[in-house]
Amino acid sequence: MEDIVRPNSPAARDIRNVLHPYTNARRHEERGPTIIKRGEGIYVYDDEGNQLIEGMAGLWSVAVGFSEPRLVEAAQKQMSKLPYSHIFSHKSHDPCINLSEKLVEMTPEGLDHVFFTNSGSEANDTVVKMVRYYNNAIGRPEKKKFIARKRGYHGITIASGSLTGLPLNHADFDLPIAGVLHTNCPHHYRYAEPGESEADFADRLANELEEMILAEGPETVAAFIGEPLIAAGGVYVPPEGYWQKIQAVCRKYDVLVVADEVITGFGRTGKLFGSQTFGIEPDIMVVSKQLTSSYMPLAAIIFSDKLYQGIADNSAKLGSFGHGFTASGHPVATAVGLENLAIIEERDLVGNAARVAPVLQDGLRALADHPLVGNVRGVGLIAAVELVADKETKRPFDPEGKLGMQVYELAQKNGLVVRAIGDSIAFCPPLIIEEGQVREILKRFEMSLNEAEGWARENLS
Ligand SMILES: Cc1ncc(COP(=O)(O)O)c(C=O)c1O
Repeated sequence: MEDIVRPNSPAARDIRNVLHPYTNARRHEERGPTIIKRGEGIYVYDDEGNQLIEGMAGLWSVAVGFSEPRLVEAAQKQMSKLPYSHIFSHKSHDPCINLSEKLVEMTPEGLDHVFFTNSGSEANDTVVKMVRYYNNAIGRPEKKKFIARKRGYHGITIASGSLTGLPLNHADFDLPIAGVLHTNCPHHYRYAEPGESEADFADRLANELEEMILAEGPETVAAFIGEPLIAAGGVYVPPEGYWQKIQAVCRKYDVLVVADEVITGFGRTGKLFGSQTFGIEPDIMVVSKQLTSSYMPLAAIIFSDKLYQGIADNSAKLGSFGHGFTASGHPVATAVGLENLAIIEERDLVGNAARVAPVLQDGLRALADHPLVGNVRGVGLIAAVELVADKETKRPFDPEGKLGMQVYELAQKNGLVVRAIGDSIAFCPPLIIEEGQVREILKRFEMSLNEAEGWARENLS
């Protein structure tokens, strides 16, 4: 693609002043930003007026689309009435009370208490701290270790970045911290032994988890954390029976199960929670993103009464629960969250995701014969297509990730926002999407794949 950045243009000013998250900063200096000006439904428009289908719902999050007036109104109303109030030291406010109640009502049985943060990373950091605090409180000070998965994603702060199992999030940040272990990734296509069935693969992963717990000493392992389906690390749908087997191992050794539903929460998999899609009964659930459709930053931890009782006792003993953010339960964010959940329910967006899902899933699977496509996977309105140089051996193009980036750029040129995770192309459109719009995504993606094919053969090996 052409790199033209005019002096003193917004792009040039961006390059001068902004360090972008998850961006190659040197490449950005040449390429400049794609500046998004406005949104409407499933579309966003750049500063040249190009319409793009937001095939990733922003960062897996804008469930209700990019122009929902009810969320604007909810924010405006709350801003006018009480723009800010904290919930430290016994204070509270209506949006916080109402949203907590709503979350307890919506989430599976056994999750009865809520703690608010601003982001998924802070939420997972808080989970690590809450579990430490709880186990200290109940006299198990050795039981502190967390087991996460390779290629799992839980955020980027010191603790949540440690839980994340991706090399890029650890390299040169001196992560992971001590006490965080990573077990194997449940991606059958890449990590199953030749001829290993999904059920056997799931058995092996559960056995490996058990061996890890036994090797560490069960008295030292506090929690297992996982996304119901690994999303940002590559969109890996676990093999059949995986979660039931993993959960049984956790229960056997009194290891808490943490479901990180930051992406899967509120309908993404075609059910309200990924925990329901995959049969997880978590002790702790983390939600964010579709909680407010990302109109406001907000995350929540919903957790069991058993945990609450330990934490509450300890807070009484120490004089206070020594944890909280200035914006925990922010009134505008929680007001927007409440309205957003009301919209998801009233418009049956979870049902819509389930109804429209086959168009996306079958449509992508129909590309399985394309020369570049190695694997297609997904459930509900989340999916990925993994690109390879050799379909037989599953060998990726060298250097890895270049083809993914090229398809990402070509898709954008063709009016479609996708996400490249290495050479896997991810899809995660807004939950409001209609069948015809999904077909348009498929059309634009196939066009981009075809354009990428010749380029790949010429430029990669
Ligand atoms: C499953 C999961 N957990 C946690 C996070 C971190 O959330 P945030 O980026 O809001 O810190 C993400 C972000 O993509 C995520 O996908």
